[in-house]
Amino acid sequence: MTIEALSGSLLADGTDLRELVDVERRALSGRVFSDQEIFDLERERIFGRTWVFLGLESEISEPGDFVTRTLGTDAVIVARDHSGAVNVLLNVCAHRAAQVCMVDGGKADTFRCPYHGWVYDPAGRLVAIPAEREFLGDTGDKSEFRLQRARVATYGGLIFATWDETLPSFEDYIGDFKWYLDVAFGSLDKPLVVAGPPQRFVTKANWKLASDNFAGDGYHAMTLHASMGDIGVAPGGFLDKIAGFAFSAAMPETGHSITCVDLTAFVPMFGALELAVPWIPPDARPQLERNLLPEQMRLLNNGVFPGIGMLFPNFVWLGLVRFPGTPAAGFTVRTFMPVAPDRTEVWSWALVHPDLSDEEKRQSAQMHTLTFGASGIFEQDDLAAWARIQTSVSGGQGRRQYLRYPSSRPPSRSGVLPDGDWPGPGDIWGGFSTDDSIWYWHMKWLELMTAAG
Ligand code: FES
Ligand SMILES: [Fe+2]
Repeated sequence: MTIEALSGSLLADGTDLRELVDVERRALSGRVFSDQEIFDLERERIFGRTWVFLGLESEISEPGDFVTRTLGTDAVIVARDHSGAVNVLLNVCAHRAAQVCMVDGGKADTFRCPYHGWVYDPAGRLVAIPAEREFLGDTGDKSEFRLQRARVATYGGLIFATWDETLPSFEDYIGDFKWYLDVAFGSLDKPLVVAGPPQRFVTKANWKLASDNFAGDGYHAMTLHASMGDIGVAPGGFLDKIAGFAFSAAMPETGHSITCVDLTAFVPMFGALELAVPWIPPDARPQLERNLLPEQMRLLNNGVFPGIGMLFPNFVWLGLVRFPGTPAAGFTVRTFMPVAPDRTEVWSWALVHPDLSDEEKRQSAQMHTLTFGASGIFEQDDLAAWARIQTSVSGGQGRRQYLRYPSSRPPSRSGVLPDGDWPGPGDIWGGFSTDDSIWYWHMKWLELMTAAG
């Protein structure tokens, strides 16, 4: 049976997707993370129906700059044209579907298909073909051919795209979550910029295990990352704080969420703003007052670190604290690109403030390498856990087991901050980490996967 033949939530073996997601018990079948058929459906229903993160404007800052990426499982070219616009083009020739561009990035006025030599500009227009007259004849018209172009949205230096013409605008897609995105990406006069190319690595795990982790799993930090405290890389008690004194804000309609860490205990050592946004250099911090609302500033002035953001389905940002004895704070964005049910490519960028000196940028980027880069110590912990889960859910019996998300409390915005109610939108949980925001993420996934059409 083909994907097209599937109706609603019914899989080829007659299983209803809803049987694999036990909403009452908050449990997900191992099949959700291991079935090829579910993975194939996700390509259409998740990555075909959401705004997908592809990279940063600072990677292609000049006209002619381009990088190649993956939108869902489709290869795309992300190119800045000579009008300054960002284009996202399917990297598939309009002639006979050869891959047009085969490098990671660079600068080019045109892209030439290696098969028969058709030439496209950065907006995807076919501008030349070899022996045009002989090949197309006198009446042939090359303007009917072009690279497919996706809808593009840029926000705070980030680039998103979708093939879905009916999807609401990016602004509508992020909805109220903009309040938190603005704290992370809209607080400076100039956006953070990439410190270099992204680090890329493949994990032998389903992409949802990675997204699930960053949708609010503070609980794992005190165990899986405990060695960070043991060897003195993280300050004493910090990892327990991620689990025990975090605040989560999650959007029930959109599945976006943010986890903030309460660092008030460290305020005497550092100062509230230094803790809340340590990647922003002190002389740039007056910009926060200019660009943020008083209520957003109140969060930061409480020493609340808006550190871990998840924009459904697979875009994550992480503010990295500056631990005592480390050179600089870092900031990273990442995405989990699906390759196969049991393979995910992680793309991870270090972002830095544009006004830092080269040496300061290097130090800031080093924090990314040390923590969440390919060899980062946090990353290694997480990758090992996800790969083992993947092995579990790929077993004959293991795929029948359900992954559980039992921890839940009613959301409440009062009593969360010492100086009043939580100021931001969404459902809020203070105190010990729960599974609630992760479950919201999975409910959004289920909604999209079972939607008609
Ligand atoms: S397939 Fe690209 S020019 Fe023929
Ligand atoms: Fe982790």
